[in-house]
Amino acid sequence: MRIRAYEPTDAAILSRILRRNAIEVNSRDYPAAVIEALCRDFDTEKIAALAENMSFLVSMEGDAVRGFGCISESFVQLLFVDPAHHREGNGTALLNSLEAIAESDCVYANSSLTAEGFYLRRGYVVIGRGERGRYGAFVGMKKQLG
Ligand SMILES: CC(C)(COP(=O)(O)OP(=O)(O)OC[C@H]1O[C@@H](n2cnc3c(N)ncnc32)[C@H](O)[C@@H]1OP(=O)(O)O)[C@@H](O)C(=O)NCCC(=O)NCCS
Repeated sequence: MRIRAYEPTDAAILSRILRRNAIEVNSRDYPAAVIEALCRDFDTEKIAALAENMSFLVSMEGDAVRGFGCISESFVQLLFVDPAHHREGNGTALLNSLEAIAESDCVYANSSLTAEGFYLRRGYVVIGRGERGRYGAFVGMKKQLG
């Protein structure tokens, strides 16, 4: 596995990975309206636009894209791994690399309910819970680096 910088030609596959997770994985924890909003909003164009303003990293196995994550300043914004390849270390490798480019010694994330256990294992603590409009409930997480 290797982590590399985002390239514009990645946008379509990253959108597919996000939407597959929404339908196959996040749907266990969220109502249909939230899943529909995620699938509708995070199309290829949206990913391409976000990538212009945030640092996106991509996880690769050979020539295959396995997952991606992005960070804005010290805020991890999105983190998604191909559902067929969960629990193979891609999420950890991506998060480690995102933390390495964070702009402070503290990193934050608004985790999905689904990924709360993952962030806890990676050393994050819960600092709050809330709702983000049509995307539903989130868990505010924080990790002190170093
Ligand atoms: C969360 C996610 C990115 C983790 O990626 P991954 O590649 O499966 O994670 P890893 O293989 O690096 O797992 C790391 C550890 O977390 C654990 N873990 C992974 N997902 C977990 C989960 N949902 N709940 C609890 N523990 C989890 C693994 O067992 C592993 O434990 P270990 O270090 O003791 O072996 C991935 O499951 C995913 O895409 N989830 C759905 C999308 C989502 O909700 N993303 C977050 C949006 S904010």
